[in-house]
Amino acid sequence: YPAPEPPSNHGMTVKPRAIRGMNDILPGVSSTWRYLESEVQDIVRSYGYDEIRLPILEYTELFRRSIGEVTDIVEKEMYTFEDRNGESLTLRPEATASVARAGMTNGLLHNQKQKLWTSGPMFRYEKPQKGRYRQFHQFNVEALGYDGPDIDAELIIMSARMWQRLGIDKIHLEINSLGVPESRARYREALVEYFSGVKNRLDEDSIRRLEQNPLRILDSKNPDMQDIIQAAPVMLDYLDAESAEHFSGLKALLDAAGVKFEVNPRLVRGLDYYSRTVFEWVTDALGSQGAVCSGGRYDGLVEKLGGRSTPAVGWAMGIERFVALYEACGGKAPFTQPDVYIAALGEGTQARAFALAEELRDRIAGIQIEMNLGGGSFKSQMKRADTSFAAYALILGEQELSENRIGLKPLRTGGEQENIALDDLAAVLQEKLSGA
Ligand code: HAM
Repeated sequence: YPAPEPPSNHGMTVKPRAIRGMNDILPGVSSTWRYLESEVQDIVRSYGYDEIRLPILEYTELFRRSIGEVTDIVEKEMYTFEDRNGESLTLRPEATASVARAGMTNGLLHNQKQKLWTSGPMFRYEKPQKGRYRQFHQFNVEALGYDGPDIDAELIIMSARMWQRLGIDKIHLEINSLGVPESRARYREALVEYFSGVKNRLDEDSIRRLEQNPLRILDSKNPDMQDIIQAAPVMLDYLDAESAEHFSGLKALLDAAGVKFEVNPRLVRGLDYYSRTVFEWVTDALGSQGAVCSGGRYDGLVEKLGGRSTPAVGWAMGIERFVALYEACGGKAPFTQPDVYIAALGEGTQARAFALAEELRDRIAGIQIEMNLGGGSFKSQMKRADTSFAAYALILGEQELSENRIGLKPLRTGGEQENIALDDLAAVLQEKLSGA
């Protein structure tokens, strides 16, 4: 008889599988991530933003109340489960709600302003495709306690600096203002009236949204509805005087800073906490998932969560899309290769080679050394040295060891091998590496 199939065990019948939409960031790719993350961190630190690290789980209620009940995220994309004591927890779909929560629970918002950054994985049960994943990563900046429009401008200018510093040019900025809740309520009425008049042309999702969240109809990607959306009333015509002034202030500051933008009156964003400024940096270089960095003002959020009224604004960049765009614009992260590959041949040489490597690491700050592991002939060790892309090979054979010397061979420049006294090695190498 054939052997019975092993029992199915959560997708592990034969071999483990990765979860759909959740990617491993592999060696070779992770170096680009690290490079871009560190560039962005440098920039935001140079504007006075300080890091806050947050848990990836929060009570589900936090996201329901912040992002809004009638949003794609809360309705269908959250990874929600019960804790062992029956409390509903959710893997964060975004970080702004957690920043607001952390500001409140740690007393960071009492008569203080905060300029914060945070980064890490976010989770949304979306349909995976290029640029859209179920575990993705964001870099966030959030400024709490500032009512702008100067801070809105600073946040946008800071993001423009990132693109410029990294040679990213296939990107443009769209901005809009959503006003305050009162002006938005008037706009909402106008929208309901307009869309009710063309109800027979709305799709099922939009009919449902008509009652609950008509602004989100504007965000529909359904091609059949684009002409009725284009003809809908626009929020900018309903702005209250103060929001209009705030928006002009922002535009004037961006103009003065030379940051180009386009006013997109249909930009509404998919989260309910926004008020006044919203913006998105969008690219055409990545296919349909073009929003790389998006954000806006959320003046009402802290109060809605039960705190004192605190104006706030921020943005989040999707790191997967950022990395892809950087590459699409021709960017290449600096490639770090070892400085030295150590080959050891014969009795007693491996132990001495280890001691030597440690000594070099002590004496030459930042030196990258790759040790030959697993023995091998001279030929195979030199072949590995070559494929490691090291600048130099150090060759320690029995003969050299007995004479307290070592072979130093340039691998990239084609120079001659030298035979160097072990006592002089660190000094000689240091000079060669700094000259390189
Ligand atoms: P969001 O527009 O939902 O805003 O996400 C921000 C960015 O995260 C997007 O522009 C995109 O680059 C990336 N992103 C979103 N979903 C995915 C996904 N499934 N796969 C890959 N990348 C994705 C927020 O999350 C707000 N918290 C932004 C904010 C911060 N507003 C104020 N402060």
